Amino acid sequence: MQTLKNLKNEFDNELNLISDLEKLEKLRVKYLGKKSELTELMQTLKDMTNDQRKEFAKEANALKEHFSKNLQEYEKKIKDEFINKEIENSEVYDITLPNLVKLGSLHPITIVQKEVEDVFISMGFCVEDGNEIETEFNNFEAVNVPKDHPARDMQDTFWLTNGQVLKTHTSASQNRILRKYGSPCKVIFPGRCFRNESLDASHDDTFFQLEGMMVGKDITVANLIYFMKEMLSSIFKTDVEVRLRPGFFPFVEPGFELDIKCVFCGGKGCQTCKQGGWIELCPCGMIHPKVLELGGVDPKTNQGFAFGLGLTRLAMLKFNIKDIRQMNGNDIRFLKEIKTR
Ligand code: PHE
Repeated sequence: MQTLKNLKNEFDNELNLISDLEKLEKLRVKYLGKKSELTELMQTLKDMTNDQRKEFAKEANALKEHFSKNLQEYEKKIKDEFINKEIENSEVYDITLPNLVKLGSLHPITIVQKEVEDVFISMGFCVEDGNEIETEFNNFEAVNVPKDHPARDMQDTFWLTNGQVLKTHTSASQNRILRKYGSPCKVIFPGRCFRNESLDASHDDTFFQLEGMMVGKDITVANLIYFMKEMLSSIFKTDVEVRLRPGFFPFVEPGFELDIKCVFCGGKGCQTCKQGGWIELCPCGMIHPKVLELGGVDPKTNQGFAFGLGLTRLAMLKFNIKDIRQMNGNDIRFLKEIKTR
């Protein structure tokens, strides 16, 4: 019985010195484990008289209970202390404060560009990148606009001192892409373009186009109309009606202006379509044989169509933006307003 008492005192003293869970577990093994003194003492029960055994077992069980109860309480105490310390050391964060993080949004041109890319990708086209600084050859000669051609006047641009230009249209990448892919190919290539323009609500010196080309055997205007109609219907989320008018570009033959039936008034006439019922959207045509040839594709056995979609213009239409200068204006209020539309 004295041993039991000693064991209790020993345990109480040791427990008071413990401050972490690992040591607590060691203590538990020492006093309650299979090889503990208490377990050993219990094995001596068989050598006792009945009365002794009764009394001893009662005390031993009470001690066992004392150990487990105190160990449990101590464990909770250590855990609580740990949590309180963590709370004390952590930064104070008031979850009732309003969220002050301002989330940005994509630029309207980026939104429309991604939408158009997705539609063309779903129809088997791949997407290429173009340069912003181009050689004079790629921007002009390769698309059948030789020096002194009057068409150069319409695309006056910024010339670098080394004779290169800021590209005036995405068509400047046609030659490089024809050389890379050859025939057959289906490629779109969006890009930023530059022109020496007098600025007004519908002209800026920096704007975005998205060019597309499909080259192969037996490609016709029917293919061109099909793909344009599919893409525009998907962008405007309605069955868009298109029409082709003749248009001149030195790198297509025949060349067209593609119009869409005004998606805002259904063709009755409104401010957006300037009462005409149709909106001019996308110059296009069958790639000129000379352009194919310069790109290393045999024009006798191959044909192709090309279009130059005005991405900036399309974004303006889709988001009902009236002044093109807002697009590059960097005014955060403008972008915020688009985000909420
Ligand atoms: N590159 C022409 C422009 O910017 C548009 C165009 C592209 C026309 C492809 C026909 C075919 O004006």
